[in-house]
Amino acid sequence: MRILVTGNMGYIGPSVIRQLRSSYPEAGIAGLDAGYFAHCLSVDDMLPECRVDVQYFNDVRAVEKEMLRGIDAIIHLAGISNDPMGNKFEEMTLDINHRASITLAKNGKTAGVKAFVFASSCSIYGSADDHARTEKAPLNPPTAYARSKVFTERDLKPLADRDFKVTCLRFSTACGMSERLRLDLVLNDFVAGAIASKRITILSDGTPWRPLINIKDMARAMDWAITRDISQGGEFLPVNVGSDEWNYQVKDLAEAVAEVIPGVDVSVNKDAQPDKRSYRVSFDLFRKLAPHHQPKVDLVTTIKELEHGLEVMGFNDEDFRNSKFIRLKVLTQLRNRGLLTEKLVWADHQKQGRVVV
Ligand SMILES: NC(=O)c1ccc[n+]([C@@H]2O[C@H](COP(=O)([O-])OP(=O)(O)OC[C@H]3O[C@@H](n4cnc5c(N)ncnc54)[C@H](O)[C@@H]3O)[C@@H](O)[C@H]2O)c1
Repeated sequence: MRILVTGNMGYIGPSVIRQLRSSYPEAGIAGLDAGYFAHCLSVDDMLPECRVDVQYFNDVRAVEKEMLRGIDAIIHLAGISNDPMGNKFEEMTLDINHRASITLAKNGKTAGVKAFVFASSCSIYGSADDHARTEKAPLNPPTAYARSKVFTERDLKPLADRDFKVTCLRFSTACGMSERLRLDLVLNDFVAGAIASKRITILSDGTPWRPLINIKDMARAMDWAITRDISQGGEFLPVNVGSDEWNYQVKDLAEAVAEVIPGVDVSVNKDAQPDKRSYRVSFDLFRKLAPHHQPKVDLVTTIKELEHGLEVMGFNDEDFRNSKFIRLKVLTQLRNRGLLTEKLVWADHQKQGRVVV
């Protein structure tokens, strides 16, 4: 089997590559990434990209035919990966997340790819906290980021057939330690605050609901998706990925962190506007279809894993919300310094072409 993982040089990518290496030791694995956050490492040992057989430093909007030759499965992670970036770079978010995804899927299908796995998001349900949403619930994407996921799912659907299986994994909010840690995710932010300043500052009033999933469990779900049988779930499958027990209210997450890391003060913003990103999700379908790939890493284990990872990093940056572990800050800096063009293409790359390692 030959697998192409796009966006492998981000937060989730390294754990996906590790999972694939362990499930398919003989597989050829290629990574493809523009490398926006390549320098945002949180470890100082081996580069995670050493685990792939081929690494393309390439824009996902310009994937060449030769990169798809012989590929059996594509795991598509590349994209502008949160609401704040989507708000600031709206047009490019649609360009990269939606249009490029569809072109990649079409070209992959023509090249003989059999399975396409898309990293979608539960945020497409919008404000949905009165009851847990199933895959049949109406979509109500509140942001450009969420809209880009909805448009991609919509346009992937007609491409799916017996020879081209499409799985849209609607992921819960990710958490956990990575070689390219993100601290703009709710649980990771809380643990970082607890360690750096013994303080957790909840930006909302603490009531929003947010389902969580550890990145190791996301990787296991992707592993399932590339080999799943279409007799279960069909040729085109959108499925919520997470666990019913891990639908949390944000204030509960903060309290859980404060229980693991003693002496932490939790503050809530009582004047906060209602958070539109509040959703509860049903994971019944995923439980039924993927009984052997259910999430395993629980909240306390994830908090301890993050605590340990941050301690190993010697992490003590009280101002981490302005650091290289915040995707929006990095992308904005790259733009302001002129390293990326307004189309979010490397300025030098335009002249020099791509690099293949
Ligand atoms: N982190 C979460 O909570 C979560 C939840 C649901 C879905 N997802 C989705 O999973 C995917 C990966 O998320 P992540 O947390 O690892 O994000 P990330 O920002 O850490 O990684 C995204 C990667 O995509 C690459 N990329 C972006 N635009 C590109 C382009 N034009 N060409 C090539 N590469 C490009 C970036 O360089 C980066 O390495 C994203 O599609 C995201 O929307 C994430």
